[in-house]
Amino acid sequence: MRDKPDHYSLQAQREGYPARSVYKLKEIDEKFRIIKKGSNIIDIGASPGSWTLYVCRKLKGSGNIIAVDLKALGSGMNCQNLKFFKDDAFSKSFQETAVKTGPYDAVISDAAPSTTGNRTVDTGRSYNLAEDVLNFALKNLKSRGNLVIKIFQGGDEHQLLDIMKNSFEVAKIFKPKASRKESFEVFLVGTGKL
Ligand SMILES: C[S@@+](CC[C@H](N)C(=O)[O-])C[C@H]1O[C@@H](n2cnc3c(N)ncnc32)[C@H](O)[C@@H]1O
Repeated sequence: MRDKPDHYSLQAQREGYPARSVYKLKEIDEKFRIIKKGSNIIDIGASPGSWTLYVCRKLKGSGNIIAVDLKALGSGMNCQNLKFFKDDAFSKSFQETAVKTGPYDAVISDAAPSTTGNRTVDTGRSYNLAEDVLNFALKNLKSRGNLVIKIFQGGDEHQLLDIMKNSFEVAKIFKPKASRKESFEVFLVGTGKL
């Protein structure tokens, strides 16, 4: 249980974002320049929609956003160049759509499994999701495209990082300030797909 909203939650409320997680993407974007105007972007694990809204505001009507989640987006997602799919990102039907609407300038994924409290199970499920996102990105990113993937730290994230080091100009593990200290999430960031 968290006692009271922190600085980031309050800022998200003020700025009209449905979740404080927006500031993780903002920090990653400011450091690695992930989102550029006119881009075609896919947001995997998008609900309630703060990353989607950040991208939408940054694109200012240019480019396209494809967002997918098992759950619906929050209300008030006013974005003309957004197409949202309520689906499993790795279902056959969505994958067919996602390949057709690509290739992408950026693949961003904050997707996370529902947690059980068993760290081994949770990190294993997060790894599987992250691996699926990486495989999707390797096939569907444009040359010079960018990638952000959330993963729960468990040791194996370095295996994915090693693959990314061979496929991107820059590949790093990054923990944004907005990511709670007690959370074991980190982000794999790749820029400049080779
Ligand atoms: C931390 S939340 C994302 C928050 C979002 N980035 C935001 O800023 O509002 C993680 C999301 O991943 C979604 N998710 C997990 N596995 C998924 C899958 N296979 N396909 C689509 N969404 C998935 C969950 O439903 C959950 O909504």
